[in-house]
Formats: sequence, structure tokens, C-alpha cells
Amino acid sequence: MTDTHTPDARAAGTFAIGGDMEVVRLGYGAMRIAGPGVWGPPRDRDAVLATLRRLPELGVNFIDTADSYGPDVSEPLIREGLHPYDGLFVATKAGLKRPGPDQWAPHGDPEYLVSQAHRSRDLLGVERIDLWQLHRIDPKVPAAEQFDAIARLLAEGVIRHAGLSQVTVEEIEAARAVFPVATVQNRYNLGDRSSEDVLAYCEREGIGFIPWYPLSAGRLTEKGSVLDRIARDHQATPGQIALAWLLRRSPVILPIPGTGQVHHLEENVAAAAIRLSDAAFAELDAAGRA
Ligand SMILES: NC(=O)c1ccc[n+]([C@@H]2O[C@H](COP(=O)([O-])OP(=O)(O)OC[C@H]3O[C@@H](n4cnc5c(N)ncnc54)[C@H](OP(=O)(O)O)[C@@H]3O)[C@@H](O)[C@H]2O)c1
Repeated sequence: MTDTHTPDARAAGTFAIGGDMEVVRLGYGAMRIAGPGVWGPPRDRDAVLATLRRLPELGVNFIDTADSYGPDVSEPLIREGLHPYDGLFVATKAGLKRPGPDQWAPHGDPEYLVSQAHRSRDLLGVERIDLWQLHRIDPKVPAAEQFDAIARLLAEGVIRHAGLSQVTVEEIEAARAVFPVATVQNRYNLGDRSSEDVLAYCEREGIGFIPWYPLSAGRLTEKGSVLDRIARDHQATPGQIALAWLLRRSPVILPIPGTGQVHHLEENVAAAAIRLSDAAFAELDAAGRA
């Protein structure tokens, strides 16, 4: 079902992850499709499945998930809604255990990482995971051992591409000595610019940069703020402008806004078509850095 009013993520253009996996730059994050605290099943399962099934109709072909979302809730729901994934790329992660709701504990035992990747492959129902990311480098385990596990997963064809999450430039460089780092997933948005150096590195090296919590803009969402005014100028929401700003910020940025509601998904995807003027982009940039 397409008509001129259907939002189309493809307006954001594409990026080739690892040089050969062409994804539409505006993707989808599947963390929030688990229950409250990213724990257990979702409150509204039907709404979640409808949201997932709407993704390909809106041109989204890149989905981010993890073994720990639920745990073991997000991956099976993605499979139920979208298998056999005709033209869709599903990225997943491991490296965080879940003691309870809203609790996350790094666990980088290499054998555990390898077995979780196999498990994700089974839960997603794929022969090979398109992109697998180390959710956190576990400080209790030598980083090289965690990177070796990833190199093994690549060599054995369990995963096609590999990435890292919440890392520094030094950590990316250490990992690249062991395996090709295709993506980096750090918290980054208009109001949180603490990973500017990592973004600059990724842009220079052609590494996909996946900013999580992309809809946030911190205090910039307040009434009367620059963001509020520019949103009104575009007849858009602040969240849509935050996404449009990310898309314009760098060609390697792949935002993955997450939602369990079709109308929020449609609103987020519509941001792909918003073009910020040079002046609006610069004003937002300055306000976000301030
Ligand atoms: N690597 C990591 O460590 C890490 C950490 C966190 C997240 N992530 C990934 O990044 C993705 C996005 O991050 P995030 O979920 O933290 O942040 P986000 O996508 O910026 O925000 C999601 C929140 O905003 C709401 N929302 C979404 N669209 C909306 C709209 N149009 N209007 C109003 N509210 C809206 C959602 O609730 P509704 O469901 O009600 O729409 C949800 O509560 C996650 O899904 C996950 O895949 C990765």
C-alpha cells in the first residue's frame, strides 16, 4: 500500500554497512517492543506486531535488536512479524545480562558471546546474522578475548558484519586490529554530543555510526527553544527535527528510533523527508553543543 501521503524512509538515502550491506539510513530500534523496563513481553503485543509489519511498507529495511531486550522477547517478535525478512537487515547484539527490569550487566566471557550469537541466529531464524554488535566491552574480561570471539563468529560465517557499542576511539582501534568494525553504536543525539570524537572517527573511516536514544534532545525540547521554533516552522514535531538533524549531521549516521506504536513509527519515518536549511541546521547544532 503506497500513496503520496505514505512516509518513505528511503528519502533518507542509504549507507553500505561494511561496504556491501546497503541499508536505508533511517532504521528502527526494537528495544521498546519488550515490556516496561525492557523486561518481559510487551503490554500490547498486537500493536507491536502491527508496528513491525508496517516497517517494510514504509521503506525501513534496517532493524536493531539484542538478545537482552526482554531478554529473548524482541528477537522472537521480530521473527514472528517479519520472517523471512525479504530485503530486511536485522542487526542484533550480545554482551549484557539482565538481572531484572532496567538492569544491565556486562558479560563478556568469550564462550558466552559465541553461544549467544548462535542463539540469536536461531531465535531470528536466519542462516547468518547480518550485523552482530558487542553490546558492551566487559571491563572484567580482557578486551582482546572478546574481540577474538567476534573474529571467530565472522570466520565461521555465523555473522556477516560486526560492530561495537558505547566505545571510545581507542577501543575501536584496538578492535580493528582483530576484526573489521562495520558499525559503532553510541548514545548520541542533538542534546548529547559526548561522542563527537567517535562520530568524526567513524565518518573518516567509513564506519556506520548508529546513534541510540536519537529522539532525545534534552532541554532543547522546552517550549520556546530553538528546536521548538524550528519544528513549528516545518510543521513538524521536535522529535522529527531531531531525526532530520541527525540525518543531515553525517552521511554515516543511521538513526534507529524505537516505538511500539504504528502512528509513532509513521511520524518518525516522515522525518526522512524533512530538509533543514543550512541556517536551521547550524542553529540547532550550536544550541545542542551549548
Ligand atoms: N547500544 C545500546 O546500548 C543501546 C541502548 C539503548 C537503545 N539502543 C537501541 O536504540 C534504539 C533507540 O533508542 P531508545 O529506545 O533509547 O530511544 P528513542 O528511540 O529515541 O526513544 C524511544 C522512546 O520514544 C517514544 N517514541 C518513539 N517515537 C515517538 C513519537 N513519534 N512520538 C512520541 N514518542 C515516541 C517511544 O515510546 P512509544 O513506544 O510509546 O512510541 C519510546 O519510549 C533502541 O530501540 C535500541 O535498539 C541501544
